[in-house]
Amino acid sequence: MTAGTAETGNLPAHVAVIMDGNGRWAEARGLPKYKGHEAGMDAMIGIVRHASDIGVKHLTVYAFSTENWKRAQEEVAGIFDLLIIYVNRELEELHRNNVKVDVLGDRAPFSKKVNAALDKTIDKTAGNTGLRFHIALNYGSRAEILRAALAYPSTEEEFAEHLYTAGAPDPDLLIRPGGEKRLSNFLLWQCAYTELVFQDTLWPDYTPDDFNAAIAEYGARKRRFGGRTQG
Ligand code: IPE
Ligand code: IPE
Ligand code: MG
Repeated sequence: MTAGTAETGNLPAHVAVIMDGNGRWAEARGLPKYKGHEAGMDAMIGIVRHASDIGVKHLTVYAFSTENWKRAQEEVAGIFDLLIIYVNRELEELHRNNVKVDVLGDRAPFSKKVNAALDKTIDKTAGNTGLRFHIALNYGSRAEILRAALAYPSTEEEFAEHLYTAGAPDPDLLIRPGGEKRLSNFLLWQCAYTELVFQDTLWPDYTPDDFNAAIAEYGARKRRFGGRTQG
């Protein structure tokens, strides 16, 4: 069995996280939204490190949805500025920890600067064999599904090869902190049999303990995939 945390024997191979609650976190402190997104980036780095440490194989984070463009231009610009800062700042450590980074979503609308920072990270970590860290950016499940459908696949396996997540197993566990109980257009195809855990902690306050609590809840679930539990 893969080494887990002290309280978990049943470690999910793929954990997906909807990083939600940055705005409310900032609002509660009378701070600009930017500060919430900045604290959210710090929380993300902490969880990547932790997921890598405990032996999770795939971590997928929802960082920006196809619907998030509806927000004020200033907020959107701030999110992408932060992304560049964090990607550049954390690259060496991610690489040292053998983390392999990729991006799920349509990168076409991104600025040259954003794409250059992403490419640098993806290229540098391409040969790494540890945690696969997938960043969903300008990601929307419906757009992803439509794109795959337009390739006219004829089996579910072929269809999945045309999704941004091609090559990764479906998530075992999806965590949504921030109190909302919805998927918000995230991994709709991939989460057909994923265990869902909703937590109230706002993302900037999210700690490895919260992550461990979600994994412990996952470990207590019985997965059936439509069949019958054995024994
Ligand atoms: C999640 O936090 C980050 C993004 C969607 C980019 P929010 O900004 O949605 O935070 P709330 O939901 O408004 O608190
Ligand atoms: C989902 O959060 C998207 C990300 C976390 C990137 P939202 O804040 O956009 O979702 P809704 O609007 O509450 O459904
Ligand atoms: Mg939100």
